[in-house]
Amino acid sequence: MTSLRTRILSAQNSDLNTAAAILQAGGLVAFPTETVYGLGADARSGTAVAQIYAAKGRPSFNPLIAHIRDATAAQQHVIWSETANQLAEAFWPGPLTLVLPLREDHGIASLVTAGLQTLAVRVPRHPSAQQLLSAFDGPLAAPSANLSGRVSATTAAHVLSGLEGRIDAIIDDGPSSVGLESTILGLEGDRPKLLRPGGLPAEDIERLLRYPLLRRDESETLSAPGQLISHYAPNASVRLNVRSRQASDVLLGFGKMSCDLNLSASGDLTEAAANLFDYLRQLDAMGHPIAIAPIPDIGLGAAINDRLRRAAAPRDS
Ligand code: TXA
Ligand code: MG
Repeated sequence: MTSLRTRILSAQNSDLNTAAAILQAGGLVAFPTETVYGLGADARSGTAVAQIYAAKGRPSFNPLIAHIRDATAAQQHVIWSETANQLAEAFWPGPLTLVLPLREDHGIASLVTAGLQTLAVRVPRHPSAQQLLSAFDGPLAAPSANLSGRVSATTAAHVLSGLEGRIDAIIDDGPSSVGLESTILGLEGDRPKLLRPGGLPAEDIERLLRYPLLRRDESETLSAPGQLISHYAPNASVRLNVRSRQASDVLLGFGKMSCDLNLSASGDLTEAAANLFDYLRQLDAMGHPIAIAPIPDIGLGAAINDRLRRAAAPRDS
């Protein structure tokens, strides 16, 4: 791919308008969301979206989330439902992605859905993302702004470390507050199905719906092809549920303990989620095997453990 000069933009109006113009011209812009930074392109343009796959080195069978301004905008692309409405009213804007059947006249490039008959839609809460979507005035396909298979980016510096020279611009608006990708819920079947645990705890969704979500079975064929087992991989090897470290390890802690970096010394899962990807990157840079202390598997802990299991999984390359 040709080497570009990546422009660093601020969250000021004039810069957000510049970003929107780059996107309208078919370019790639990384932008902050409350979950992680996204790498955006016009979701209606196959050539624009193709550049996302090229910049990330992403397998082409992996579908992307369409970021839109609000529920009304979503309904231009997907077949809306009562449940979608209930969830959108409670949790949008925010870290929840809904997978719904495509409308006949959806207008979305087939590279976004990777040929599926459904589309993942999400309304981000981050003010810069919202302003960008307003200025751009259309759907933005945006995966997390990292090289494929690598740890997600929660700061502009993370994005640049993988994608500088491969994308047109980045909007730098500080660290992502949630720090974990959105929760993905499949609404195309009879019952809502948790396709990816994420920044909105599944328990919050179940409390609203008043029934349990269907869960993915790791052995089933990949309806969310993004759920590749090895994902979020640091370069170093990763071991989980470590209670006592070996001499060569760097230890990522949780709760009161002695360690190299602590996700949350007070045992707060929200704080741990926000620190997760940055700390994995910092420990990875030290060049030792990474040992990780046990994290409770409740609330945001379920999503943290999902990411950690993927980071620890055997690598295919
Ligand atoms: O928080 C987030 O969701 C971030 C920010 C940037 O919005 N985005 C993100 O995108 O995590 P990405 O591409 O890294 O992960 C998207 C996931 C993938 O696992 C993909 O397989 C799944 O969404 N997905 C996309 N479209 C789908 C569909 N139609 N059906 C099932 N899964 C889908
Ligand atoms: Mg990703």
